[in-house]
Amino acid sequence: MKQILTAQDLRDWRSEQRDHGLKVAFVPTMGNLHEGHLSLVKAAQQQADRVIVSLFVNPTQFGVGEDFDTYPRTLDEDLDKLQEAKVDAVFTPAVGEVYPVYPPRVTVTAGAISGILCGRARPGHFDGVVTVVSKLFNLVEPDVACFGEKDYQQLSVIREMVADLNFNLKIHGVPTERAAYKLALSSRNSRLTPKERELAPELYKALTSVREQCLQGRMTIDQITRRASENLNQLGFTVDYLEVLSHDLTPVTPSSRKLIVLIAAKLGSVRLIDNLQFDR
Ligand code: PAF
Repeated sequence: MKQILTAQDLRDWRSEQRDHGLKVAFVPTMGNLHEGHLSLVKAAQQQADRVIVSLFVNPTQFGVGEDFDTYPRTLDEDLDKLQEAKVDAVFTPAVGEVYPVYPPRVTVTAGAISGILCGRARPGHFDGVVTVVSKLFNLVEPDVACFGEKDYQQLSVIREMVADLNFNLKIHGVPTERAAYKLALSSRNSRLTPKERELAPELYKALTSVREQCLQGRMTIDQITRRASENLNQLGFTVDYLEVLSHDLTPVTPSSRKLIVLIAAKLGSVRLIDNLQFDR
């Protein structure tokens, strides 16, 4: 596995792949890798001849008072995991390689769906995400890029960016990797206490219960989500949002067929997110 530190070396590596007619898949990450990231790597390996992963904690997607400084940085462990997963190259830039001028003078603004769900609690977060992802796409020039469906809003915002800014690549969404009792894998799970870990799978149970009740159609969507939130709050969660939307994250209308239920809730100090797509 080749470790690449600079934008110039990355461009050289990319041209070599192009000269050999090899297709490149890209997995952008902020490091602190777990099985969920490795499932993105596996999906990427099925999409292309070469896989490159970036490990970069992007400062512009963290708000004031958020955990940029304390975000776990585990470079050596991450490199070992990627080596074992047979990744071809890993890009581990310093901030100056990605942001020649910091703070950047020119940024990308995410579309309207960035203001709902997670974006409500984190203003500017998705602008930071689309800014760094567009920079990484310009540097890597991948044929395909893989993102997890667990961060469904992020995936949707990035799909819109690719369409609206005419990026020439395919975005591949990868289904959520789950641990025991269907708990969605996340770096944050390791910060749960043993008691919170026992409770955490209730989140997925709430999603399946909301799905079943929507399909039964005996209550309105508002009634269903309000009840489910109240249940979770009683169990010890602090629900930020629990919403059913159309799959493109617009409000459900009588003709919406592809729906998604999305949740964000805090358990102690840990914020968990998850979602479930379904058809009706
Ligand atoms: O999902 C993440 O880890 C980050 O938001 C991403 C896409 C790597 C951009 O920094």
